[in-house]
Amino acid sequence: MIQVSHLTKMYGSRPAIDDLSFEIQKGEIVGFLGPNGAGKTTTMKILTCFMPATSGTAVLEGFDVFENPIEVKRKIGYLPEIPPVYSEMRVKDYIEYAALLHEVPKSKLKQAVNSAIEKVSIGDVQNRLIGNLSKGYRQRVGLAQALVHNPEILILDEPTIGLDPKQIIEIRELIKTLGGTHTIILSSHILPEVTATCQRIIVINKGRIVGEDTLEGLSARMKKGLLYSMIVKNPSQDGLAALKQLPGIKTVSHTGSKIVIELQHGTQDMRDKIVETAVKKGMGVLEFSSEKISLEEVFLQLTTEESTIGNGSAKTSIPNLDVAAHL
Ligand SMILES: Nc1ncnc2c1ncn2[C@@H]1O[C@H](COP(=O)(O)OP(=O)(O)OP(=O)(O)O)[C@@H](O)[C@H]1O
Ligand SMILES: [Mg+2]
Repeated sequence: MIQVSHLTKMYGSRPAIDDLSFEIQKGEIVGFLGPNGAGKTTTMKILTCFMPATSGTAVLEGFDVFENPIEVKRKIGYLPEIPPVYSEMRVKDYIEYAALLHEVPKSKLKQAVNSAIEKVSIGDVQNRLIGNLSKGYRQRVGLAQALVHNPEILILDEPTIGLDPKQIIEIRELIKTLGGTHTIILSSHILPEVTATCQRIIVINKGRIVGEDTLEGLSARMKKGLLYSMIVKNPSQDGLAALKQLPGIKTVSHTGSKIVIELQHGTQDMRDKIVETAVKKGMGVLEFSSEKISLEEVFLQLTTEESTIGNGSAKTSIPNLDVAAHL
C-alpha cells in the first residue's frame, strides 16, 4: 500500500509537485498520467527514496520514505525514466548483480534471474554486453532488474517507452499479471498505455492532481453521458414526441433543425431506432452523430487549460469519457 499526503517538491521557488495526496491499495495497478513536466518522475523519485520531498509524507507498506528508506527500498522495484543499466556488463551478470543488491538469497539467485529474464523476453540477449543492445532491449533489462527480487511494490516510470508494438503488448500483459500480487504505479503521458493496463488513473498536471477515477468509473460515466445529435429537414412536435416515446431515451431537445437525444444510463445502441422513427415521422434525417467526449479530449481538457478545471487546486472528477475505444 502507498499513502502519499501533501507531498511537495520545490526546485528553487518553483514547485515540481505541489501538495499531492493519494492512496494506492495493495494489489492495485494505478496509472500516473500527465503531460511532460507534470511531476510524474519527481513523485516517483521521492517514493523510491532517490530524492527527498520538501514537505509532506510518503509511506510505503507502512514505512516512511524519509524515516525508513532502507526498509522502503527492500519493498520496491523501480524502473527509472532512464534505465539504470551498466553498458560494460553482460545482461545476465547485471540482472544477477541487481538481484544480489536486492538481497535475493544465493540459493534462489539462479531461479530469480532466469525468471526475470524470461518474464521480459531477453533470453536471446542474456550473454551480450548491455552497451550493444538496442534501446528497447535496454528498457527490458531495466524492467528485469526492477522485478528480479519479486518486490511488493513496483514503480515504473514510462515502462513501455521505446519498445516495439509486440513488446508493448507483452509488457502490458506482464504488468497486468503482476497486479493483484504486487502494488504497481506506472507513469505515462500516453492515454492508451494507462487505460490498457491500469485499474485507476490519477491525472497530474503542473504538479497537481487534476483528475482521478477508476476505469469502471470512467466507463460508467461514458455510458451515462451518451448523446446523439441529429440534424433533420422538418422538425415536428409529432416527430419529437415519437422519439421521446422510444425505450431508453432520457431527454429529447431541439434547437431549430438540430435534435439532441440523451440516453438513459445503460441503454444499448439506439441509432437504428431513432433514425427509423425520425424518417417515419417525415422529419428527414440529414446528419446523425454520437457525441461522446473521448478520453484524449478529457485528458487535454484536464491538462491544458486551467480554466476548465478551476484553478487547479481542487481534485476534479473526470467527466464523460469514451474509454471503450482505448481498452
Ligand atoms: N533537477 C531539477 N531541477 C530543476 N527543476 C527540475 C528538476 N527536475 C525536474 N524539474 C522540473 O520539475 C517539473 C516536473 O518534472 P518531472 O521530470 O517530474 O516531470 P514528468 O511528469 O516526469 O515529465 P516527462 O513526461 O517529461 O517525463 C518540470 O517542470 C521540470 O522542469
Ligand atoms: Mg518523467
